[in-house]
Amino acid sequence: MFWWVLKSCISAAILTLHKTGRTQGHVPQTESTALNDTTLAPIRRSSAIRIHGEEAFAAMRKAGRLTAQALDMLVPHVKPGVTTLEIDRLVFDFALQHGALPATLGYRGYTHSCCTSINEVVCHGIPSDKKLREGDIINIDVTLIVNGWHGDSSRMYAVGPIKDWARRLCDVTFESLNRGLAAIRPGATFGHIGHAIQSYAESERCSVVRDFCGHGLGQLFHDTPNVLHYGRPGEGAVLEPGMLFTVEPMINLGTYKVQVKKDGWTAVTADRKLSAQYEHTIGVTETGCEIFTLSPAGLDNPVAAR
Ligand code: MF3
Ligand code: CO
Ligand code: CO
Repeated sequence: MFWWVLKSCISAAILTLHKTGRTQGHVPQTESTALNDTTLAPIRRSSAIRIHGEEAFAAMRKAGRLTAQALDMLVPHVKPGVTTLEIDRLVFDFALQHGALPATLGYRGYTHSCCTSINEVVCHGIPSDKKLREGDIINIDVTLIVNGWHGDSSRMYAVGPIKDWARRLCDVTFESLNRGLAAIRPGATFGHIGHAIQSYAESERCSVVRDFCGHGLGQLFHDTPNVLHYGRPGEGAVLEPGMLFTVEPMINLGTYKVQVKKDGWTAVTADRKLSAQYEHTIGVTETGCEIFTLSPAGLDNPVAAR
């Protein structure tokens, strides 16, 4: 009996820790899996935001482009009757055929090559044998490692014809991402990005998820800083040329509050209303930003393309 009580206390504590870690967004506080070619020392999440040079930008261009091509490749496959495991397999095969690795595979116990977040799922939906149904909206989030560098991007896809409010949410979320990206220039702050996203999304009567954020990346999947999708101009660090990070707003039709399911990954809206997300990987330049994950096929918003 005592042991049972003790055991439940321990598991509750572990669960709490686990949950706390998860709601720090996509961004764990430590990550030391990647190896640095020159030193063979693990690359760790640093407290300072890394500034990268032209070689890193060239590498990110390759990783970003391949990631975008993977998302392009999926467009004709997203239709009623297809399972999210089949989509996951397509991403896995595509990555390996192109000499890349899916960064999520084996990442903190995650065992798939992408995240597939349907309808009320905010992010980190786990591919399964569940079939897509007409009217679903699905976010597919792919991160590919190419020569050690990470390209991270996600888009919304429509499964057959969708309701007007679902399409509107996707369009608002896509525009939110683009307004956030348009705020990026040296001298602006991360708060300018968050404010551009939040002020637009809320003016469209949508809400901005707080519990997950964008992140620095490069040779690490999740590096400093956290990129919040809400805030005020002037808040946070000042943007400098050479910074690499994602912008990936999650926008909801109802409350911004989320819950994480018992599987420890799947985040859903607290009110089970629809959620949408788009994500790009960018580098700050002298004049603005370079978007590494733009679709070569012009399919940055697959929902609008059909
Ligand atoms: N690709 C997600 C992001 O945008 C992270 C997924 S981590 C996983 O940062 F383990 F859930 F796959
Ligand atoms: Co990301
Ligand atoms: Co992602």
